[in-house]
Amino acid sequence: MKNISVIRSFELIDFDEIMEIEKEAFNDPCSKNLYIYDFQNNPYSEYYKLILEDRIIGFFGLWIIYENAQITTIAVSPKYQGLGYGKTMMNFIINHVKEANCLNITLEVRVTNEIAIKMYKSYGFYEVVSRKNYYENGDDAYLMKFDVL
Ligand SMILES: CC(C)(COP(=O)(O)OP(=O)(O)OC[C@H]1O[C@@H](n2cnc3c(N)ncnc32)[C@H](O)[C@@H]1OP(=O)(O)O)[C@@H](O)C(=O)NCCC(=O)NCCS
Repeated sequence: MKNISVIRSFELIDFDEIMEIEKEAFNDPCSKNLYIYDFQNNPYSEYYKLILEDRIIGFFGLWIIYENAQITTIAVSPKYQGLGYGKTMMNFIINHVKEANCLNITLEVRVTNEIAIKMYKSYGFYEVVSRKNYYENGDDAYLMKFDVL
């Protein structure tokens, strides 16, 4: 049975722990400076951590720009993947975005990221277009969209 986790807003002090997960979960981790810049300077950005037994085991970022929400990042620490924590965060995101009166959620995902694509599709996200060479290493991305009903 999945243990009870909680979702809280980031604090600056969280970034060291978050970067450990970022490096473990992504082949091309984003830099800590970029995250901190967005966290401190982008009025539309929101960052949340998923805590289990006093440890951060996942996180996600959002930009909520008027009627559009964008999932900028989402990750679960590899040893906790496949246990339902991704869905815990997705459920939070969808409720939060509805409360913010957004009309849609968009995100980009590597076309090869089958697990994430399966998760997004299970919520009703659909592929809008593929973006060639979207990532720095030349990988393509799907732009995916969820319409808030
Ligand atoms: C994508 C990610 C956040 C999902 O989190 P998770 O905790 O592993 O996912 P969950 O256990 O909640 O499972 C959610 C859904 O993902 C899919 N999924 C999870 N593990 C899977 C696997 N091994 N194979 C296929 N689909 C899988 C399923 O659709 C699952 O729903 P279901 O259990 O109802 O079938 C996580 O795998 C991760 O951090 N990946 C690395 C970072 C990343 O790629 N982020 C996305 C960037 S766009």
